[in-house]
Amino acid sequence: MAFSNNALCMVLLVSVMMMSSLMVTHGGNFYQDCDITWGDQRAKMFNGGQLLSLSLDKTSGSGFRSKKEYLFGRIDMQLKLVAGNSAGTVTTYYLSSEGPSHDEIDFEFLGNLSGDPYILHTNVFTQGKGNREQQFYLWFDPTKNFHTYSIIWIPHHIIFLVDDTPIRVFKNGESIGVPFPKNQPMRIYSSLWNADDWATRGGLVKTDWTKAPFTANYRNFNVQTCSGTCTSSTTSFSSGAWQSQELDAYSRRRLRWVQKYFMIYNYCTDFKRFPQGFPPECRQ
Ligand SMILES: *[C@@H]1O[C@H](CO)[C@@H](O)[C@H](O)[C@H]1NC(C)=O
Repeated sequence: MAFSNNALCMVLLVSVMMMSSLMVTHGGNFYQDCDITWGDQRAKMFNGGQLLSLSLDKTSGSGFRSKKEYLFGRIDMQLKLVAGNSAGTVTTYYLSSEGPSHDEIDFEFLGNLSGDPYILHTNVFTQGKGNREQQFYLWFDPTKNFHTYSIIWIPHHIIFLVDDTPIRVFKNGESIGVPFPKNQPMRIYSSLWNADDWATRGGLVKTDWTKAPFTANYRNFNVQTCSGTCTSSTTSFSSGAWQSQELDAYSRRRLRWVQKYFMIYNYCTDFKRFPQGFPPECRQ
C-alpha cells in the first residue's frame, strides 16, 4: 500500500510538473490586472484587490476591464449577482477584441423579480458577426453565493462553463466556412447596466429604482494562458487539463444534462429566424 501510494504521488507530481510547464497560471488581482472603465465610485475594489463590486443607480452603471489582452486561455471569474429584485439589470462578463470586425465571447446575466429566475445569455461573435445566442436558466440561485463562470478558448473550440460544468461548446468550424476567433487578442470586460427595455421578460418588467443601488460582486479572477501551441489531445478534460480537445465522458454527460433541462433558447433551433436554413455551424 505504502509503495503504491508513493508511486501514485510520484505520478501525480510528475504530471503536475508537466502540466505547469505547458501553461502559465495567473491568480488575478483586480488592482494589478484591471482598470475601472466607467461609473466612477460605483465600481470598487476591496481586500487588496481580491474583491470587486459593481453597482448601478439611476444615473449610471459601472464596469471594468483587464489591462492585458489574451490570445487563447482559460478565464475563471466568480460572480455573485444582484440579489432581490434585479429586474431590468444586466450583468455582463465577456471577452472582446477591438475594431469593426471584432471577436467576442459573451456571458450576460439578465435579472428578474425576486424569486424569478435569472437568464444566462451567451453569444459568440466572429469577425464582427454574432447572432449565435443560446440562453439558459441556472440550476442554483446565482445571487446567494459566488459561482464560477469560465471561458476556455483554444484553437479547437470555445467552451462556456458554470462551476466547471460545460454549458456550451462552439467548435472551430473553419473547415466548413465559419470564422473562428484566433488572430485577435481579447480583453476581459464586465459591466452592470440598465437594460429594462429588453432584459426581463422581453422588456415587460422595468427596473425598480426604489431598490437602487444594485450591486454585483466579483472575486477569484484567474487567467491561465498557454505557452506554445495551446492544444493537447492526450490529457483528460476533468483533470484540469483545459487545453484538451475532447470533453471526457462525464463532462459530455453534464453538457447534455444542461442542454436538456436548462437551455431555454438556441438560435440553432429557431426556425422562424432562419427560414432560409440554419447557419453552417448548427449542422456540426
Ligand atoms: C423571469 O421570470 C419569468 C417568469 O418566471 C420568466 O418567464 C423569465 O424567463 C425570467 N427571466 C427573465 C430574464 O426574464
